[in-house]
Amino acid sequence: MGNLRLGSTAPDFEAETTHGKIKFHDWAGDSWVVLFSHPDDFTPVCTTELGAASVNQGEFDKRNVKLIGLSANDVNSHNEWIKDINEISGGELKFPIIGDKDRSISTTYDMLDYQDATNVDAKGMPFTVRTVFVIDPAKKIRLTLAYPASTGRNFAEIIRVIDSLQMGDKYRITTPVNWQKGDKVIVHPSVKSGEEAEKLFPGYETVKPYLRFAADPSTRASA
Ligand code: BEZ
Repeated sequence: MGNLRLGSTAPDFEAETTHGKIKFHDWAGDSWVVLFSHPDDFTPVCTTELGAASVNQGEFDKRNVKLIGLSANDVNSHNEWIKDINEISGGELKFPIIGDKDRSISTTYDMLDYQDATNVDAKGMPFTVRTVFVIDPAKKIRLTLAYPASTGRNFAEIIRVIDSLQMGDKYRITTPVNWQKGDKVIVHPSVKSGEEAEKLFPGYETVKPYLRFAADPSTRASA
């Protein structure tokens, strides 16, 4: 994803959005952010995605996560399209969508589509792919995803990764394949087996010296 890697500082920018002009870092404040691009307004896959993001707003709120969408259309077009999204999803889209018609933010964040020759505007200029950046309150990029225009994303998976990241920031754990909140976690490799592990994760199980499971630590105060 260009020069933006996990751990990079998310570039700041000013933008027109459906909620007015913003300065990205100020707007983000102390929250986590999901910055996600979609190819174009009034398109079918994008309409289902934005509807799903909107219907899941409560799940993002619970995790202190702000959503912000982006495409290379103007804000007037976004505002018209949001009426359709709300009609189809049955929800009310509450997060801002950036109007990046000049593609300045898409270029900075390397969101433009160099693969799909159908994902272009009337002048043949590429639209964006389905990029996701999860950004933490320190403005560090913690997850990047890029899906093709033809494939809608899974917002439950984005929430799952945020749960893993937030738990990993708080406790010395990692999360296994297909993990869901409440499942057993993995004791971080930096935790020494024996006294240290037992103190942090009482009753932890050793499957291999390098694979140790523990109960969800969020129910314990001392982990
Ligand atoms: C869509 O959202 O359905 C879409 C947008 C651009 C290219 C292909 C599909």
